[in-house]
Amino acid sequence: MTITNNPVNVTATDAPDQPDRSPELEELYRGFESELLVPLWTQISDLMPTQPQSQAVPHAWRWAHLLPLAERAGDLVPVGRGGERRAIALANPGLGGAPYATPTLWAAIQYLGPREDAPVHRHTQHAFRFVVEGEGVWTVVDGDPVAMRRGDFLLTPGWQFHGHHNQSDTPMAWIDGLDIPFAHYTESTFFELGPDEVSDRGTPARSRSEQLWAHPGLSPVSAAGTPTPSSPLAAYRWEHTDRALADQLDLESAGHDGVVEAGHAAVRFTNPTTGGDVMPTIRAELHRLRPGAETATRREVGSSVFQVFEGTGTVRVGESEWSVGHGDLFVVPSWQPLTLATDEGLDLFRFSDTPIFDRLHQSRTEVEGTRQ
Ligand SMILES: [Fe+2]
Repeated sequence: MTITNNPVNVTATDAPDQPDRSPELEELYRGFESELLVPLWTQISDLMPTQPQSQAVPHAWRWAHLLPLAERAGDLVPVGRGGERRAIALANPGLGGAPYATPTLWAAIQYLGPREDAPVHRHTQHAFRFVVEGEGVWTVVDGDPVAMRRGDFLLTPGWQFHGHHNQSDTPMAWIDGLDIPFAHYTESTFFELGPDEVSDRGTPARSRSEQLWAHPGLSPVSAAGTPTPSSPLAAYRWEHTDRALADQLDLESAGHDGVVEAGHAAVRFTNPTTGGDVMPTIRAELHRLRPGAETATRREVGSSVFQVFEGTGTVRVGESEWSVGHGDLFVVPSWQPLTLATDEGLDLFRFSDTPIFDRLHQSRTEVEGTRQ
């Protein structure tokens, strides 16, 4: 059967691992093309590289550049039905202009003006928010208003209705992280509009989910023994994250275990019903480096996005190196080596697609030549 606009193109080359070129070989390749066939021997180096070769490239985005552009969008672009969110995504320069930070992860700055609402919807993509500065917005997750404040990590797991309302007279910006590229590639997405009005315009200091779940080591008996795929806790507050990191470094100072390595404390946000990651496709962590600390060089299968919360530092990813400060974001593609260093101290929020690879038994980490 002949089709028009046949996209298959099989090219004979003189490469040493390729068959000798001849008119008969060309005839064979034209036969492959007309039947929509592609031989492995012309493709194997792309399909089966010796180690992950990401299309994404290391890249950093500056908060000092992002924020004024988001503010300008606040002047010019209404938020409401249709566009749904005033969210501006990081586009990795290796991914052809798609709004993807990495092949699996979306990262965007979202901006909500004074007294504005972002309408209610739900989708199967998993989402979170991380607040690098500001307050005054409540995100309403399945009817539960959740305050958003500096340093907080907030969840909107897949298929939960959510909208946002700004109850203050000042604008607020934060970052959204989702698994949009992964969901798009795997063609598994559903989306549904919710009510036009945010269902609960309350402004409680703590959400109902925190009243149930934000007590260390304590689960409500009404939900005990029922693991949920995503965390039921909608907000992880900075006061808890900060204290956990400070305690790790205090333990190190006292000569006890607990830090990742010298001068490097880290915590992972976890699902209290399982002890595992907060959502099926996204891992999230907060890392703190003491003044003068430098990490080992690590590489991992899967990709990460980092945002500087506080402090300054030097980041090396593959061949790239940047000085970073408050709010700056950078991407670590799969299997690219990462080293962090700081003179004055550095707090870094990180999210990654690692749970996908854990589930598939494809995770692999290498620390300065030591494979784990
Ligand atoms: Fe959403």
